Amino acid sequence: VRLLSVTAEMFPFVKTGGLGDVAGSLPPALARYGVDVTTLLPGYPAVMAAARERHVVAHASVLGHHALLWSAHVAGVDLLILDIPELYDRPGNPYLCAEGRDWPDNGIRFAALSRMAADMAQGRVEHYRPDLVQAHDWQAGLTAAYIHHDRRAGAVDAPRVPVIQTIHNLAFQGRFPAECLARFGLPPEAFSVEGCECYGAISFLKAGLYHADRITTVSATYAQEIQTPEGGMGLDGLLRRRADRLEGILNGISTDIWNPASDPAVHFPYMVGDTVGRTPNKRALQAEFALAPDPDAFVIGIVSRLTEQKGMDLLPAIMERLLAGNTQVIVVGEGDRGIERGLAALHRRYPGRFACHIGYSEALGHRVPSAADALLIPSRFEPCGLTQLGALHYGAVPVASRVGGLADTIVDANPAAIANRVATGFLFSPVGADTLLAAVGRARALYRRNRPAWRQLQANGAACDVSWNENAAQYVALFADMLGVAAHAST
Ligand code: ADP
Ligand code: GLC
Repeated sequence: VRLLSVTAEMFPFVKTGGLGDVAGSLPPALARYGVDVTTLLPGYPAVMAAARERHVVAHASVLGHHALLWSAHVAGVDLLILDIPELYDRPGNPYLCAEGRDWPDNGIRFAALSRMAADMAQGRVEHYRPDLVQAHDWQAGLTAAYIHHDRRAGAVDAPRVPVIQTIHNLAFQGRFPAECLARFGLPPEAFSVEGCECYGAISFLKAGLYHADRITTVSATYAQEIQTPEGGMGLDGLLRRRADRLEGILNGISTDIWNPASDPAVHFPYMVGDTVGRTPNKRALQAEFALAPDPDAFVIGIVSRLTEQKGMDLLPAIMERLLAGNTQVIVVGEGDRGIERGLAALHRRYPGRFACHIGYSEALGHRVPSAADALLIPSRFEPCGLTQLGALHYGAVPVASRVGGLADTIVDANPAAIANRVATGFLFSPVGADTLLAAVGRARALYRRNRPAWRQLQANGAACDVSWNENAAQYVALFADMLGVAAHAST
């Protein structure tokens, strides 16, 4: 099976969040099941630099732009790189300019990506034709729409290649003004509720959800939440109508990258599950962040985009109470400028007890869960979440809101779960200052009063399978099901 994965980011080349991790770690996991993944990525400078050894496989005209399509095999993955310098040859974040605003031409930048994917799916690129396409998030959302309209126009006679639209985050929909329709190469009839129109605008994600053969999202609970008005971000009606085509497949993490015994970011390497062997890391982290070198302090780590989705706006107001009971807090994150400023101010207010690194640091993203006692994840919604998986694996006990993938991957330490040795963390709901503080209070109390039970919690977490193995098998079952149906339909 040849799968074309269409994505705007992919670790280790370019990453702003979990989508990058997933796009990077799923292909090798699928390869073990015989699925051959090729990833179509925009030719950002970082991608071009990483793929120094590459060759041109096609010259194409994509929505009026001259494009080179490069093929490369880098870091164990097969890439097709869509090289349109005027759209992608820009430094920094793939979506934002230096001032933190969206690039004004993001619509055409990602329409072009989807247009190229649709061309490949329809056999217009001699070099490569997939059996299946997985379109990730809104940036790839028009792929299924282009295929639909091309076929309606009678422009293709090749058999139809089915498309999976994967939702990593329904909050980002790729909305653009109706006037852009022709610029995006879509026919007038595409602007309809039976298509890409959504509340008066063009929505890339909605187009994908409407036209894709199947929809996946990244946890079973999120698959349910997005079918409700509270979690549906305006698209719950469509998602309810398509419920029989929608499923949640949980993310995994690469246990090659996430291995505390060989992770270069970990100061004192230890084996997964060695809850004692990791303890020197706590002292080292306290030193690195100039926190009081107190082994009894309860150290809470946070590694997160600093946004309201992640509940990070709650932190400044509750920090005084969070730091009670000899607690220390370390935040590694970037995002909303207001939240960044609020946290930086706390830095000065609670020296030795609170520390933050405003910015992106892959190393700290690994070091903090290798050293902190707990990892706090108070998300208002969380499609899957990857930081809790790293935390479980590395022995930092997650304290998280009971939403989406957090609810699906963490077992709350209620008395029964503790007694049965299945607890792995602390869950709270709804998200608010008091519920958050109560959950941290429960965690801290267990840590202080019952260290064996705490260590058992860490061991239970380390015993969880956070890898891709089982989840990749679910994708494989989905692919088989889809190809079976497609084969039937075409005979
Ligand atoms: P989201 O994609 O919504 O941001 P996830 O939990 O799925 O949330 O993935 C976030 C990924 O980005 C994780 O791998 C996490 O460790 C990493 N990350 C987030 N912020 C930072 C940061 N400031 N520095 C390093 N890694 C970060
Ligand atoms: C999104 C979600 C996050 C998920 C990630 C990868 O960024 O916010 O919950 O883990 O995508 O699927």
